[in-house]
Amino acid sequence: MSSPSPLSAVPPTETPTGLGVDVGGTGVKVGLVDLARGELIGDRLVRPTPQPATPDAVAALIREMVAEFDWRGPVGVALPSVIHEGVARIAHNIDHSWIGCDVVDLFDRHLPGRTVLMLNDADAAGLTEVHYGAGEGVDGLVILLTFGTGIGSALLLDGRLLPNTEFGHLMVEDIAGRGFDEAEHLASASVRARDGLSFEEWAPHVSNVLRAIEDLLWPRAFVLGGGVSEAADQWFPLLENRTPVRAAVRRGDAGIIGAALYAAGHSGVLDLGRVLPDVGV
Ligand code: BGC
Repeated sequence: MSSPSPLSAVPPTETPTGLGVDVGGTGVKVGLVDLARGELIGDRLVRPTPQPATPDAVAALIREMVAEFDWRGPVGVALPSVIHEGVARIAHNIDHSWIGCDVVDLFDRHLPGRTVLMLNDADAAGLTEVHYGAGEGVDGLVILLTFGTGIGSALLLDGRLLPNTEFGHLMVEDIAGRGFDEAEHLASASVRARDGLSFEEWAPHVSNVLRAIEDLLWPRAFVLGGGVSEAADQWFPLLENRTPVRAAVRRGDAGIIGAALYAAGHSGVLDLGRVLPDVGV
């Protein structure tokens, strides 16, 4: 992916704009976002995630990447961890040194004077889909699940995010008779790749996880994201669930867009009413 030139990234002045960062296991993505349309302005910038992906290494890279944009406003950062009271709490698919990291202090040190707000990556994708994508206009409870290395979840009630749900770690009884395991160990996209499963073989595992969730929460719709949502027509018809299933539409950019929206909503750039949870809850 080419680097955006700061000049090409300057948005029209009247467009509400934000900057979002999505930290993944293999890549860190940054993009300037048109918050009226929920779309990237110009190219996104992508760099390999530092290895080991410690908080200091990741924050130093974010600083470098953000500096490539002509942007002084708030920055939203999506991370695959629970962000609770300003502290990262878990690390299933990122470096374990994130556990206990005070993210406010981290960004104060690496991006002093800047407003940087962090949230869970699936929560960012959920905000995107409910505002601009597959969950838009659905009243009641919408649950977004992202299928990647793990399974991320976002729970949105009438558009308002209940942060830090972790349904990827729900214990579910395996349909292949191997007892109970975490949902993401049974049905993530990485499990499908590891075991070489066809969509016909994998879809029943996804249905099984969705069933466990719908039996507890009775959502109006599931929005399913991650790379596999691009092949939705090949496996959505194989799912056997009572809840309607929709494919995420913003796909690979949903984390960036939702992170930018979260930061803008919390710093007064946009008035999102009561849609966002308080920072760091
Ligand atoms: C993490 C979640 C994350 C998901 C997708 C899970 O292993 O616990 O916080 O949202 O992976 O990245």
